[in-house]
Amino acid sequence: MKRKIIIANWKMRPNLRESQNLVKGVLKYLKKSKKKKKLSKLDIVVCPSFTSLSAVPQMSKFKVLRNVFLGAQDCFWEEKGEFTGEISPAWLKEVGCKYVILGHSERRRYLSETDEMVHKKIKASLNAGLIPIICVGETLDQRRRGLKEYVILEQVSQALSGVSIDKKQKIIIAYEPVWVIGSGHAIGPEEAEYMNKIILQRTIDLFPLDVVKNNIRVVYGGSVDHDNVKSFVDQDTVDGALVGGASLKAKEFIKICEAIC
Ligand code: 13P
Repeated sequence: MKRKIIIANWKMRPNLRESQNLVKGVLKYLKKSKKKKKLSKLDIVVCPSFTSLSAVPQMSKFKVLRNVFLGAQDCFWEEKGEFTGEISPAWLKEVGCKYVILGHSERRRYLSETDEMVHKKIKASLNAGLIPIICVGETLDQRRRGLKEYVILEQVSQALSGVSIDKKQKIIIAYEPVWVIGSGHAIGPEEAEYMNKIILQRTIDLFPLDVVKNNIRVVYGGSVDHDNVKSFVDQDTVDGALVGGASLKAKEFIKICEAIC
């Protein structure tokens, strides 16, 4: 069985001070948790904004759990150069990141991020030694037009065709139906399982089976909370969750982690 993972995407919500407080809260509830031993079998990833990244590596230093990692919410595809405003994947590594979220639907929507851009970012992140968390998901309009499978297959194919993953490299694919994000109404777990199976099938088409088995995890995201997280993670192909709103409350976030232990 693959190791489960819970990823907190803080988006552009907490500022520096709020991020520091949130980290303190997460650490406090981790320390207090009665399930600490079981929590250590999970991977927990916290993804603050760029400006808070340097404030958060304290996580690992606190040694509450060794499996709490830092992630960023985006990166650029070049390592260095005249790219004003962009952030190199190597620099994320420098400040302690292990993961990076790529192709989030909010970036696709508000910043016109394309599959081609996501593809280049994946390659650059892997080269820098980061684990990309690649977001895919259909809009409500696409779903209503009967295109949900097609959209997901296309996004996964375009993101990952031509990418090679060696034994040490890992990737995460997050299925996040766009219309569910922030709605407070998650899709049913069977639906998440169905879509995750489609994603998994595409990765089987693209990569050797041992890479799919050992190096790729598929998670669900969209209105996940401590009440529904287990129903998702109990599904065969759902290896964890990408959490937005509910990750902004330290206690709720730890409850989400505890719920799947
Ligand atoms: P919510 O959990 O707030 O629906 O957000 C999901 C998300 O976009 C995580 O990346």
